[in-house]
Amino acid sequence: MTDYKNSGSIGWESPSNIALIKYWGKKGNQLPCNPSISMSLKNSLTRTVLSYEPKGNGDQLSFLFEGKRQVSFEQRITKFLGNLSDHFKFLTDYQLSVSSENTFPHSTGIASSASAMSSLALCLCSMEEEISGVKMAEDEFYRKAGFIARLGSGSASRSVYGGFVTWGESNSFSKSSDEYAVPFSKYTHPVFLDFQDAILLVSSKKKEVSSSAGHQLMENHPYASARFAQANKHFERMLGVLRSGDLEEFIEIMENEALSLHGLMMNSTPSFTLLKPNTLELIERIRSYRLSSNVPVGFTLDAGPNIHLLYPKSEKERVVPFIDSELSQFLENGKYIVDEKGEGPQKIKM
Ligand code: DP6
Repeated sequence: MTDYKNSGSIGWESPSNIALIKYWGKKGNQLPCNPSISMSLKNSLTRTVLSYEPKGNGDQLSFLFEGKRQVSFEQRITKFLGNLSDHFKFLTDYQLSVSSENTFPHSTGIASSASAMSSLALCLCSMEEEISGVKMAEDEFYRKAGFIARLGSGSASRSVYGGFVTWGESNSFSKSSDEYAVPFSKYTHPVFLDFQDAILLVSSKKKEVSSSAGHQLMENHPYASARFAQANKHFERMLGVLRSGDLEEFIEIMENEALSLHGLMMNSTPSFTLLKPNTLELIERIRSYRLSSNVPVGFTLDAGPNIHLLYPKSEKERVVPFIDSELSQFLENGKYIVDEKGEGPQKIKM
């Protein structure tokens, strides 16, 4: 039992994640059309503090991002909270102040909805514990947080855990679910323990297509069923690879997923070409470097032009000089961020 509380403040920091098998296409109430798997990052985090008090006459929510009001995200959170009354019965009786900040610089193209929504979901679950005075079992707590995060943003469900995390039902992983994320890390080969992710910034411009609009493109997509079958197959193979440590196959599947995602966007109606000429230049160089050096380094992409370069830490001494000498000339202001696999969210001591 925790103490019953009527007002208080809770903080969580939660990571962004990079999908190896992509979630692209949704159905029903924020359910994925195929299973996905991602790696949670270590340094790209959102810190969210939620303060609550009994509802007065003011607005139910005030939201600050890095100290300033941000209307678009405030609207998104208001809508999100409005849909949660079945899961948090107490919510309508409280007034909430939410304040968030990211540890990664502005305009880097790093997906922030995953870290933002997961940190908020974790705060709400902690708030439930505080005001009810009942502590959930740890696995139940994270399952609920992943479920709630999913309602805010699909990929956010995976950010409530560290390491490699699945979301979406698959016959190849009996614990998997469409409703919440399930961690896979305890089954992974040691070669993945300290995996690195260098985020190569080709362009920091705002995304041309929001993820939600992107998912919609799959609704009448001529290749939708082939894509979902492919993603299921890739998911199954990727779980095998994460167990076996076969880096060649890891890279093959990861790169195919990234390019399939962009292929689907290019031949959607409307069509989007989010890859920039420099993205393609980087892809060519990464592939030819891998061939000539035998260094197991591969790329993936979000729904944008920036490259995530993944490799085992043991190769860092070779990969970082390669980025500096061959790749950085194609990056916006030569900029990249080296991140790595992280251990998952942390409660902030208040
Ligand atoms: C390409 O989770 O951002 O990054 O559920 O509408 O918030 P919403 O979408 P979002 O989509 C992520 C798409 C992706 C692939 C992935 O992360 O799996």
